[in-house]
Amino acid sequence: MGRLQGKVAIVTGGGRGIGAATAARLAADGARVVVNDIDPIPAEETVAAITANGGAAFPCVANTVELAEAERLVATAVEQFGAVDILINNAGATRDKMFHLMDDELFDFVLDANLRTAIHTSRAAVPVMRDAAKAEIAASGRPAHHRKIVFTSSVAALMGNPGQVNYTAAKGGLIAVTKTLARELGAFAINVNAVAPGFIETRMTAAKKPGEATGVPEEMRQMARMMISLGRFGEPEEIAAVHAFLASPDSDYVSGVTIPVTGGQIGGM
Ligand SMILES: NC(=O)c1ccc[n+]([C@@H]2O[C@H](COP(=O)([O-])OP(=O)(O)OC[C@H]3O[C@@H](n4cnc5c(N)ncnc54)[C@H](O)[C@@H]3O)[C@@H](O)[C@H]2O)c1
Repeated sequence: MGRLQGKVAIVTGGGRGIGAATAARLAADGARVVVNDIDPIPAEETVAAITANGGAAFPCVANTVELAEAERLVATAVEQFGAVDILINNAGATRDKMFHLMDDELFDFVLDANLRTAIHTSRAAVPVMRDAAKAEIAASGRPAHHRKIVFTSSVAALMGNPGQVNYTAAKGGLIAVTKTLARELGAFAINVNAVAPGFIETRMTAAKKPGEATGVPEEMRQMARMMISLGRFGEPEEIAAVHAFLASPDSDYVSGVTIPVTGGQIGGM
């Protein structure tokens, strides 16, 4: 039996990259997974890959920058699978510019995509998780099991990163939110943690082509690789493994922390 057998998980931004790998890993560990993304086709593809491997998954296309959309996402999990035990707040995006060139539009877009999505989805999920724990406490004195909230932060928030004042503000915010929610929700056996990935090979970090909104210039990719002790970029599955650890009973006594997963990136271990 998988360590997440019987659990219901939501993964935001589950259509691509780290989110897709996380949804697949949670399903392989036995969870039933609601795969959220703003883009329908990638969300459907993640669900199709999970079901082809014998797992259980359901798509929910939603932009959780809007609270009502986050509430619809959580309602989908309850309708389809009957609960929310695990929430992986992974959705995110970058729009890099040096600080003196950054306008409010770019700042707000990145704050919304990385921080507001996570706050709204958590705001929608926490009452469901709390109520379930409270009912179990009333029935038998304590929650039947731990429930888990995980935020996908970034090593950029630990080290700073030129051109990413918007992104580091959002990802640093998630680290602080992790600590506060861990304190608020511990009484209900809801663990709250974050992962700070280093440089992981996804659409977000692919070599930037002229005119593209996202990506990293090739010379910066090469410089970043030189800072990594293990000498290579990470794979989405290597972040998924730590998301899954923090979603599982193996981390029941871990709460309020941010785990760097960087291959030993200098300055952001
Ligand atoms: N790739 C890296 O090196 C790296 C490093 C540190 C942190 N991260 C973080 O990991 C997470 C996943 O990033 P990735 O590298 O897999 O990027 P990605 O671009 O491959 O995937 C991100 C997914 O999130 C979705 N998304 C964006 N905004 C959304 C919204 N408002 N609502 C729902 N879905 C939305 C996108 O459509 C996309 O499918 C992000 O939070 C990112 O900031 C990535």
